[in-house]
Amino acid sequence: MIYLDNAATSYPKPEMVNERVIHWLETGSGSPGRSTPTSLTKADSRVLQVRKQLTNFFGIRDEYRIVFTYSATDALNLGIKGFVELGDHVIISAIEHNSVLRPLRHLEQAGTISLTIVPCDSLGYIDQHKLWEAFTPKTRLVVLNHASNVTGAVQPVADIGEEVRKRGAYLLLDAAQTAGVLPLKMDELYVDMIVCAGHKGLFGLPGTGLLVIGSRIEKLLSYRQGGTGYNSESEYQPVNWPEKYEAGTMNIPGIVSLGAGIEFIEQQGIEQIAQREHQHLERLWESFFQVPKIQLYGPEPHMPRVAVLSLNIEGWEPDDLADILQHNYKIQVRSGLQCSPLAHKTIGTHPEGTVRISPGFFNTDDDIENLVDAIKKVAATQVDWMLF
Ligand SMILES: Cc1ncc(COP(=O)(O)O)c(C=O)c1O
Repeated sequence: MIYLDNAATSYPKPEMVNERVIHWLETGSGSPGRSTPTSLTKADSRVLQVRKQLTNFFGIRDEYRIVFTYSATDALNLGIKGFVELGDHVIISAIEHNSVLRPLRHLEQAGTISLTIVPCDSLGYIDQHKLWEAFTPKTRLVVLNHASNVTGAVQPVADIGEEVRKRGAYLLLDAAQTAGVLPLKMDELYVDMIVCAGHKGLFGLPGTGLLVIGSRIEKLLSYRQGGTGYNSESEYQPVNWPEKYEAGTMNIPGIVSLGAGIEFIEQQGIEQIAQREHQHLERLWESFFQVPKIQLYGPEPHMPRVAVLSLNIEGWEPDDLADILQHNYKIQVRSGLQCSPLAHKTIGTHPEGTVRISPGFFNTDDDIENLVDAIKKVAATQVDWMLF
């Protein structure tokens, strides 16, 4: 099977990630905070070590501002629900993932916030003019997708972040598709919170995510309460960070995998990883863009984008195309709306969606050539005979 669905979750993981996790499962023990008050378990030390690695990765000083979560969705729920207050106005773009849209619609329905969705162009870039128009005196939070999981478009975050700050609001960046391929230094991007999925470009296990809390954020409520191993005598959630947000036994193998994933990225270099994925994207683009029956979506390769390519073939339902690729050609891609109905409305592919191809660091040139051949063969097939 050729795996080309790295935007969903990366596969395979680097060998060192697998080894580190297996080693941990065979030799690791304990749960952070669940030892005596004066001694650290092996798990405590390991979690702290990975937290420190992550502070470097995001260019921040304080480990307590790194919160381990169970997915990007979990981190978005914390960043959004922990931050907004009654009466706040929140702005998002029209290419956000459901993991941003649904928590906000939930808060809107409950009467907690008001929400404005700012349009994007057909490539997936936010309309900045409309963004600034959408601001009201009550606007307190902007949530922005760094790179679209449908079109690959990368937003000009630093410019937007600086302006959001000038207007007295805060910026939460959904970096699910960029962590591991674009630098994410918090101050350089002028963002106040960064959300990542640990299991995509950071090469961690599924069941991992991160919320990175910037220095301008002083108050963030927990939205999940429970045992933290600390202050067990208290009936109330601890106030100290990050324990306040990390109730329940942590996903230690996942955190170990993230530490190894970050180390792998640093060894390879983010730019080199991005370049490799981009070469695959360029190859796909140049192979398809002149094929009459193939419609490509998103920015051309020379524009700001990541290696996530959506396409459709005239006469084919995206789900059928993905099925054929899987069953006849042993190639795994993703079809449909990719949890981003707003993005598909924006690019005109709602409700059928697209077939999304997302190469990763471990894909070879042969993988890409196989996919190109397969798609071209399908595009050359007369659909009418398929009906009989
Ligand atoms: C842009 C974006 N945001 C959020 C998510 C949610 O990630 P997770 O599955 O880790 O919750 C995804 C996953 O596909 C995504 O692409």
